[in-house]
Amino acid sequence: MTTALITGSTAGIGAAFARRLAASGTDGSGADRGHGAGHHLVLVARDRERLRRQATELHDRHGVEVEVLPADLSTDEGIGAVEARLADRTHPVDLLVNNAGFGNKGEYLDVPLADELKMLKVHIEAVLRLTSAATASMRERGRGGVVNVASVAAFVPRGTYGASKAWVVQFTQGAAHDLAGSGVRLMALCPGFVRTEFHQRAEMGTDNIPGWMWLDADKLVAAALADLARGRTVSIPDPRYKALMGLVKLTPRALLTGMTSRTGRKYGPQ
Ligand SMILES: NC(=O)c1ccc[n+]([C@@H]2O[C@H](COP(=O)([O-])OP(=O)(O)OC[C@H]3O[C@@H](n4cnc5c(N)ncnc54)[C@H](OP(=O)(O)O)[C@@H]3O)[C@@H](O)[C@H]2O)c1
Repeated sequence: MTTALITGSTAGIGAAFARRLAASGTDGSGADRGHGAGHHLVLVARDRERLRRQATELHDRHGVEVEVLPADLSTDEGIGAVEARLADRTHPVDLLVNNAGFGNKGEYLDVPLADELKMLKVHIEAVLRLTSAATASMRERGRGGVVNVASVAAFVPRGTYGASKAWVVQFTQGAAHDLAGSGVRLMALCPGFVRTEFHQRAEMGTDNIPGWMWLDADKLVAAALADLARGRTVSIPDPRYKALMGLVKLTPRALLTGMTSRTGRKYGPQ
């Protein structure tokens, strides 16, 4: 039986990964788990009580072992605790999902610098340190997988959030290239809008986001794991967003900034 560690497991996309990986199905890490077997899980988030409830539910439903690791990934202590778990060679982690993240409401200079720095800690420093702890051990074993949850915001010039997700994509592609042939797969997952707690937590209004732009977290995760199994290093697991990002790639950078901020004002979170 293999083990998956998911950060931000208690809500939204992370919770969908936890459900999917606890049940049967492929994880794309290259590990042989036996037919129909789910993963043991290590669940990471800040809310201890919610983690405990989630662990009990997944254990009771799927019969897998579920460890909880309460940690705040905006702190050195929290990142260090998860790094230590990933470095534990006696209980190896086969699949790491770096998913924890959040948005800050407002444009540049409206958002307090401390909140932007906190975002960089969770979206960049934590992802770098946890990916490094996990892949060092995976490379020794010759197998394993890492999914770093980025966003389609990585491809458009939209503030600190988009910039942090652009880092996630570039970093993941570079690391995947350097570890090619080692048996360790890395993939950046780039969702569009997903119905989760994300916008509500950031107190962003979503009324003007058209219905067709919303993705379902469970379908997103199923498609993402299929892409990991195929060996993709970047996954945009939806035809609508694939088409949109194709257009973005063809648009000159200078035009893109104005276009995305006009479109964002009209159809984006408020
Ligand atoms: N929803 C979207 O439209 C969308 C689109 C593209 C990309 N994404 C990305 O997808 C990822 C997941 O977002 P989501 O939409 O599923 O959000 P969500 O529903 O708000 O869930 C966020 C999860 O992250 C945890 N978390 C937040 N801050 C944390 C911290 N400092 N330390 C540890 N855990 C923390 C939360 O639990 P606790 O509060 O208990 O810590 C929760 O489990 C994020 O990286 C986000 O940027 C989301």
